[in-house]
Amino acid sequence: MHLMFIGDVVGATGCNFLASKIPTLKKKYSPDILVVNGENSATGNGITVSSANSLLRLGADVITTGNHAFRRHESQSAFEDIPNLLRPANFPEGVLGRGFCILDLGRTQIAVVNLMGTAFMDPLDNPFSVIDKLLKEIPCKNIFLDFHAEATAEKKAMGYYLDGRITALFGTHTHVQTADETVLKGGTAYITDVGMTGPEESVLGVCKDAAISKLRFHLPVRFTEAETACFVCGCVVDFDEKTGRARSVERVCER
Ligand SMILES: [Fe+2]
Ligand SMILES: [Fe+2]
Repeated sequence: MHLMFIGDVVGATGCNFLASKIPTLKKKYSPDILVVNGENSATGNGITVSSANSLLRLGADVITTGNHAFRRHESQSAFEDIPNLLRPANFPEGVLGRGFCILDLGRTQIAVVNLMGTAFMDPLDNPFSVIDKLLKEIPCKNIFLDFHAEATAEKKAMGYYLDGRITALFGTHTHVQTADETVLKGGTAYITDVGMTGPEESVLGVCKDAAISKLRFHLPVRFTEAETACFVCGCVVDFDEKTGRARSVERVCER
């Protein structure tokens, strides 16, 4: 089976571009399951009911998020209302929504887990302890993790920690695709970051002049989405659904 994971979709521009590329992606990679990180899918960042729906309409089976999950107050209830919209599992107890879901495909079940790193990020619960607990609860062999983290070291360490215990770990959050995709010795597919989907000539999707100004002068700046040509970044994992182990992993980058 093939699972396609698409990295952080930026704004309506990114959502529309991804929708326009779905036929090409389907033809090229024949995905059985599509998972999309939507934490930046709303115009102005975060995720709204409307941006989540646009990702569901283009065929996303599961939407993952990250540090921008709850940025849009008006849409926080979406995390209760949309069953396959996830937020990082290591948020404190009592926070809306869920950190994993299970897709029942009849012949097999697929679990998707969302987790956030804590190095240079919000001090959520320890992701290593949380995933250990979740793996005891999740009753299926095919487990895919969106590990939304800043530090390469934290993602690499998590990859080795989970090798042989999950099907694949996709790093997200930096919006820059890394060239280190591999199947680890225990059969877990791994990539440090799948990259982003949206305007390519930008700073993580944001208009480059605004980003330069912010970093150059350290004064408040209004970030806007860049209006340059888009690309789709992600990864496809071929896996054996009987064992839950990956056979291969391939980077996706479509312009
Ligand atoms: Fe992001
Ligand atoms: Fe993020």
